[in-house]
Amino acid sequence: MNLTPESVLEVLGRLHPLVLHAPIGLFTAIGGIEGWRLLSRDPKAPHAPPILAVMAGLSALTTAVFGLILARESAYVSFTVQLHQWLGVAFALCALVCTGLLLRVHAFKGTSPTGAGLGSRRLAYFIALGLTLGLMVPTGHFGGDLSHGEGFITEPLTRSVKARAPRQGQGGEAATSTIAVVKGDEIPPDVQSVFDTTCISCHGRAKQKGGLRLDTSAGLWAGGDGGQIVVRGKPEESELIYRLTVALDHDDHMPPKGKPQPEAAQIEVVSAWIAGLKPSL
Ligand code: HEC
Repeated sequence: MNLTPESVLEVLGRLHPLVLHAPIGLFTAIGGIEGWRLLSRDPKAPHAPPILAVMAGLSALTTAVFGLILARESAYVSFTVQLHQWLGVAFALCALVCTGLLLRVHAFKGTSPTGAGLGSRRLAYFIALGLTLGLMVPTGHFGGDLSHGEGFITEPLTRSVKARAPRQGQGGEAATSTIAVVKGDEIPPDVQSVFDTTCISCHGRAKQKGGLRLDTSAGLWAGGDGGQIVVRGKPEESELIYRLTVALDHDDHMPPKGKPQPEAAQIEVVSAWIAGLKPSL
């Protein structure tokens, strides 16, 4: 086992996509409790408990730190990564302030008969909570784009539109790229769905490892740093199929070892599509 401080750090960084669910869940719970409290219009109704606030604040801090460690790992820092990073740092800071302010509300002993001191403590806490929840949404949104590729959630809605467009003679997706896709060379939906589930986290709009994009037909035909990856009619000569079928331990294997792999039947779908393409003249 390779147990160096560096490798342990790397593992912590990779836990980021896992631990981030804790602050999201905990702050949503706090928001829910406070929302319910406001709706009930009962000034005596309890605030979110201190233990919840402490867990939420600490988990936000942990998530941000792990995220920064993870960001060190990648050589290529896109604009989305930077945006996500700064939103995440701002979120963690707001979260900690919010935790502190809620503890301050709980610590209020009610010495003032008018309760004025409590009112301003509550107000400060509600503002911090609003900011924290408000930052959580875009942070999570750009984070999702990074791990799943841009527009992952709405992709099933937009894909069917895109797949139909060329057949209705609307000019296809040439506008998204300078490479014109020859008619009949568009990636069929069943092949695209293999790429969407196992490749576009690294070969999509946000990241183009090896200079390759597999989220559009134009990207596929433009190929990667090593040139074209598909030879029409010849799956056995296509870099794409070689990458999918070479031994898992081989450095060339795609997706890299340890990442979710397509099933044999899915590789067969891709291979059959290439076999059916007419060789160009
Ligand atoms: C975890 C990230 C990751 C995933 C997921 C991934 N790849 Fe890659 N891919 C890379 C990296 C990094 C390179 C560049 C290094 C290399 O060529 O091996 C690369 C290179 C390639 C290349 C060679 C491009 C060239 O011309 O040099 C092909 C083809 C490829 N990937 C296909 C795929 C396919 C198909 C999938 C999905 C089934 C996939 N990759 C999933 C990271 C990934």
